Amino acid sequence: MMAARADRSPTTERHERPVIEIDEVVRTYVIGQTTVRALRGVSLRIERGEYVAIMGPSGSGKSTLMNTLGCLDAPTSGRYRLDGVDVAMLDEDDLSDLRNRKIGFVFQGFNLVPRISALANVELPMVYAGLTRSARRHRATRALEAVGMGRRLDHGSNELSGGQQQRVAIARAIVTNPALILADEPTGNLDSRSTEDVLAIFEDLNGSGRTVVMITHEDDVAAHADRLVRLADGRVVADGTVIAESDSAIGRARLARSV
Ligand SMILES: Nc1ncnc2c1ncn2[C@@H]1O[C@H](COP(=O)(O)OP(=O)(O)OP(=O)(O)O)[C@@H](O)[C@H]1O
Ligand SMILES: [Mg+2]
Repeated sequence: MMAARADRSPTTERHERPVIEIDEVVRTYVIGQTTVRALRGVSLRIERGEYVAIMGPSGSGKSTLMNTLGCLDAPTSGRYRLDGVDVAMLDEDDLSDLRNRKIGFVFQGFNLVPRISALANVELPMVYAGLTRSARRHRATRALEAVGMGRRLDHGSNELSGGQQQRVAIARAIVTNPALILADEPTGNLDSRSTEDVLAIFEDLNGSGRTVVMITHEDDVAAHADRLVRLADGRVVADGTVIAESDSAIGRARLARSV
């Protein structure tokens, strides 16, 4: 898998507008008398079709950054342009529309709705898309088949293993065919077999031109990305190309260049 990746050439043109452009983003939380500076001036540019891993110690601001990129949270200061659009100029309706059309979010804890079927979970993002019920059902079925869950359509999320739930969460993120996939520790709770399955899905998505940004704590997971951004204490401390050791059983993410 690693060797094949090393040979892969970018499937998309690299010189167009970046999909993500953030400049000096600060996010400060104020709780009572305490101020937490979760992001202290992060600037990042991600081109269309990139596969980026974000690493960093617990509390370094990874999820805060991801929520910002996903327009689930607004920066205290600084600018975020998604596909060239300054998101600060958009109202709540525009933002939720943007999220629905462009972004697929995979949350760390799966965030599936309990007691309803896998199929119903994956249909949810399309409820407001003006599709007929049968069109929704058809698309959700296709997305679940794409992640190898075609035979578990009617299982409740409580009747699925962790790896299966994570695959349903990915199907839900991709069912609207978003150009940008944001995943917060998508393999955090998975065994090595399910981790491989999930990474193979992301590789396929990236291979078909999707931009993928993934938070992980594991070097061998990050090694699947093309680029690695390290955060520490709310800042980017390193940003470079991932060099996969194709002949080692566990590829290690190394930084070719640091900032
Ligand atoms: N809603 C919030 N209110 C107040 N403080 C918050 C909030 N969310 C995050 N923080 C604080 O901001 C900092 C960054 O948190 P964040 O969740 O981004 O870290 P992380 O890098 O994702 O960590 P982990 O690896 O543990 O998931 C932490 O100090 C955290 O306590
Ligand atoms: Mg986090």
